[in-house]
Amino acid sequence: MTAEPSGWAHFGHVRMPDYRWGIFLAPPEAGRRIPFGDHAGEPAWQELPGEYRAPLRGLIVTQGDTEPASVEQQRRLGHTCPSLYDLRNLFQVNVEEGRHLWAMVYLLDAFFGRDGREEAEMLLERRSGDPDRPRILNAFNEPTPDWLSFFMFTFFTDRDGKYQLSSLADSGFDPLSRTCRFMLTEEAHHMFVGESGVARVVQRACELMRAHDTDHIRAHGGIDLATLQKYLNFHFSVSIDLFGQELSTNAANYFTMGLKGRFQETRIEDDHRLRDATYPVLRMTDGGIVEQAAPALNALNERLRDAYVQDCARGLARWNKVIRSFGIPTTLTLPHRAFNRAIGGFSAQRVAPDGRVVDQATWEAKVGDWLPTADDRAFIASLMQPVTAPGQVAGWIAPPARGIDGKGLDYDYVRLT
Ligand SMILES: [Fe+2]
Ligand SMILES: [Fe+2]
Repeated sequence: MTAEPSGWAHFGHVRMPDYRWGIFLAPPEAGRRIPFGDHAGEPAWQELPGEYRAPLRGLIVTQGDTEPASVEQQRRLGHTCPSLYDLRNLFQVNVEEGRHLWAMVYLLDAFFGRDGREEAEMLLERRSGDPDRPRILNAFNEPTPDWLSFFMFTFFTDRDGKYQLSSLADSGFDPLSRTCRFMLTEEAHHMFVGESGVARVVQRACELMRAHDTDHIRAHGGIDLATLQKYLNFHFSVSIDLFGQELSTNAANYFTMGLKGRFQETRIEDDHRLRDATYPVLRMTDGGIVEQAAPALNALNERLRDAYVQDCARGLARWNKVIRSFGIPTTLTLPHRAFNRAIGGFSAQRVAPDGRVVDQATWEAKVGDWLPTADDRAFIASLMQPVTAPGQVAGWIAPPARGIDGKGLDYDYVRLT
């Protein structure tokens, strides 16, 4: 099924057993050409390019694996929704992630024959957080136990999806390009859910700080800004790991083969081959963290991560605007990219959120100020009480600025039977 710009969304109620999946691709672009790499300028491939079968299958499987993973991570959140509006958004996100899995499985089945079907079976066997058969990428094995984590996840981790899908949307393999272009339109809504969700938590925190003249608003049922900062630190650091090593031969090969481009590849003005180009990369050295020029082809992961970090910063600026509107002198900040990393050159060192390299003892003494503690998580869990009456919203989060599809907040977005 092709998704035309006139729209595919339905806003009415659908009973769960009546829901039907579809495969959605952006409309074909007549005469589309491969925009980068060794094949730049050649017609885009409508059939699988045989020599790139294995790397393409790997890219599709890795992307496909993330889609059901997030649904598995989020599958219990319906029990503790802060409002019917939020429950409806959760269901939409989950349905769309399921559809993204469907789209990736379609590519495996339609173009890769038997080994594609075997990969699809293995996608079904893996489970988020399963010690024996975990999901491929670690951020997708972290639990999403509460709605603050859900909003942080949809802001930070779905945004990684945006950057991965954007670079695949320029792929020379046209069926992959078309599915990713469609998926991107849905990813925008997931990030909206995250950004507006956190903004509402921030707003409620500020209201309580003003009403009670204190930063310590937990006793008043709010999530304090210090705790929000710790959740932000956690989700940002696990999400930037998803971009991989700073320098990567795989990334160089995907680009040269014409399989995976840069963010907004077609809008960049250069030769789109990058054989002699360099790119600045932060590296951990004996003398600390320094910027070095690296071959641009090898630095493509870092380049994509840079675009992602800038995008995250724009969201934080909007949250900080909410805080400033209350006259509160606190600023939420992104931690340094070397903080709390498990992948890449920074993973061997302990680094504070401000970028200082610290020893293990300092890390252990301070980590409770930087990342959510068991106590923080228990407090957030204690707030997670379901609110399912139309028009009602939990006390730890402000109501949304507006409803969905012109409906008010008192609309029954979900009918529970
Ligand atoms: Fe997705
Ligand atoms: Fe998503």
